[in-house]
Amino acid sequence: MNQNQKMPTHIGIIMDGNGRWAQERGKPRSFGHQEGAKNLKKLLYHIYDCKIPYVSLYAFSTENFQRSKEEVTFLMNLFVTLFRKELKSLKDLGVKVVFSGRKEPLPSKVWNAMQELEESTKEGSRGVLNICINYGGQYELVDMAKKIANQVQEGKLSIDEITKEVIEKNMYQSLPPLDFIIRTSGEMRISNFMIYQAAYAEYYFPNIYFPAFQTSDFDEAILTYQNRNRRFGKNEEKNLSNQ
Ligand code: FPP
Repeated sequence: MNQNQKMPTHIGIIMDGNGRWAQERGKPRSFGHQEGAKNLKKLLYHIYDCKIPYVSLYAFSTENFQRSKEEVTFLMNLFVTLFRKELKSLKDLGVKVVFSGRKEPLPSKVWNAMQELEESTKEGSRGVLNICINYGGQYELVDMAKKIANQVQEGKLSIDEITKEVIEKNMYQSLPPLDFIIRTSGEMRISNFMIYQAAYAEYYFPNIYFPAFQTSDFDEAILTYQNRNRRFGKNEEKNLSNQ
C-alpha cells in the first residue's frame, strides 16, 4: 500500500467466514464470531490510520435471523458487548458511528445499545463507521421509496422534483458512494449489501476467512485497488495511482 497514492473514500467490508474459520479448528461457530469481532477492532484502527474516512460493515443481514436461535442469540449479545464496551473507544478516535437497517425484530437491548453508541459518538469528525444490522439493500430501497412517496402524498415534494440527490438523502444514511468492497472468505457475491451505493465500486474477494484477515492483507487489498482503472462509464483510462 502506498499512502501517497489515491485511497478510497468509502470502503465496505463483508465480514464473511467466521463460522467456517471456527469449524475448521473444531470450535463452535460462536467462537468464530468472537474472534471476528476482535479482529475487526484491530482492523478498524488500522483503516482510520490509513486516512480512509468512511467504512461500512455488513454485520447482520435481515436473512441472518433465519439462522439457529442459538447463533442469533449469541450474535445479539455480542453486538451489545461491542456497542457498550469494545467500540466505545471509537469516540476517542473521533469516529462517528451510524447504523443502517430496520429496527424490527431487533431485541430492544441491541437497539438501545445502538442508540447509545450513535449518541455518544455523534460529534466525531475524523471518520464515519456505518454498521449494517438487520440490513438488506433491497429493503433499504423499499424504505426509501416509502419515505419519498409519503413526502409526495403530503405535498412536500412533487414527482418532478425526485432526483438522484433526493433518493440519496432518503437512504438510511447519507454517505458517499462506495469505492471499494472487500468480501472475505472467497465467496464472490455481494448478498444484498448496499446495492445502490455499490453502483461503481471495485470488488475484492480474498480467500481468507474474516478472523484471519490481517492488516497486511488489508494493505494488499488497497494496493490492488490502487492499480485498478476506474472509468465510471467513460472511456479514458483513469489509473488510480496517477490521480
Ligand atoms: C458472517 O460469517 C458473519 C456474520 C454473520 C457476523 C459478523 C459479525 C462480526 C464479525 C462481529 C462484529 C460485528 C459488528 C456489529 C461490528 P458467517 O457466520 O456467515 O461465516 P460462514 O460463512 O463461514 O458460516
